[in-house]
Amino acid sequence: MSDRNGNGSRLVLVTGGAGFIGSHLCEALVARGVRVRVLDDFSTGSAANLAAIRGQIEVIEGSLESPCAVGRAVTGATEVVHLAARSSVVESIGARELYERVNLAGTCTLFAAATAAKVRRVVFAASSSAYGDHAAPHDESMSPRPESPYAATKVEGERMVRELAQVGGVDAVALRFFNVYGTRQDPNSAYAAVIPRFFARIAAGQPVTVFSDGLQTRDFVHASDTARAVIAAIDAPKPLAGEVMNIGTGHATTILELARLIGAICGKAVQIEHQPPRKGEVRDSVATTGRAERLLGFRASIGLEAGLRTMV
Ligand SMILES: NC(=O)c1ccc[n+]([C@@H]2O[C@H](COP(=O)([O-])OP(=O)(O)OC[C@H]3O[C@@H](n4cnc5c(N)ncnc54)[C@H](O)[C@@H]3O)[C@@H](O)[C@H]2O)c1
Repeated sequence: MSDRNGNGSRLVLVTGGAGFIGSHLCEALVARGVRVRVLDDFSTGSAANLAAIRGQIEVIEGSLESPCAVGRAVTGATEVVHLAARSSVVESIGARELYERVNLAGTCTLFAAATAAKVRRVVFAASSSAYGDHAAPHDESMSPRPESPYAATKVEGERMVRELAQVGGVDAVALRFFNVYGTRQDPNSAYAAVIPRFFARIAAGQPVTVFSDGLQTRDFVHASDTARAVIAAIDAPKPLAGEVMNIGTGHATTILELARLIGAICGKAVQIEHQPPRKGEVRDSVATTGRAERLLGFRASIGLEAGLRTMV
């Protein structure tokens, strides 16, 4: 994205911009001279996440569940990146109603407003959890097998994206993020992602909990790479026509290997306590990356060890 591409007249609305991925994206957009507006209810995000760009972006505190706040946020936006969601597999199992209200009804409200405001494109944060127990690597041609209320809302969001592109008159794309990691991921939440949780405990000399045998795999993609993928989707010159595409690295890492790497980076011995597998969590997850390369020219560039070192 450059001024030659008309950044001066662009206004990108980032829902969930005060969250982990959102704050990385907002920083990357601001660095490119793009005007940014955030809609966030600060339920899991925080103003502190946006401290580096305070004063350079517009922030609307409000919920996706409020048509009034959503309408105000969308007015004048040229593109919308829809990241706001409840996003824990484990939490969703006991909170289906909350997940449907925020992730489904909220997305519906936003897409209706985007249609009315005639925005140019919507980029939706979908999830690798759509693949469920399909054997890895996970390819977009596989039929979705969501195994939790969270995953089910993300798959339904993809359907809404197709509908928006096909009948809503707004170009749209769903990016299935794999395991995104980087600074500003909260290690203290009950549903903390594995990397910040391991860093906090290993650095403090405490044992880490590994569910199952630790040989399950994940595709860890750095937040800066993820932000680059979103920007490539905003910028894509041709219509994306409701497509779904994976955003990952194509590399599988076991949880035990991850713990070993973090131990080495912290200079600490790693103690592991095994627990039974958690409900709703998939065994293996790794992306095929060809479609994002072909349609967005996107390829992840940050290796896991280098990416983990940005977090110390
Ligand atoms: N982190 C990952 O590895 C990952 C993987 C796949 C998909 N995703 C998706 O990417 C998106 C961003 O994830 P994240 O890890 O940054 O999560 P996050 O919880 O840090 O960010 C979500 C943001 O949305 C906001 N929000 C929640 N409910 C809202 C509502 N009703 N109205 C307005 N704002 C609301 C939160 O306050 C927060 O700032 C989510 O849609 C998530 O499902 C994330």
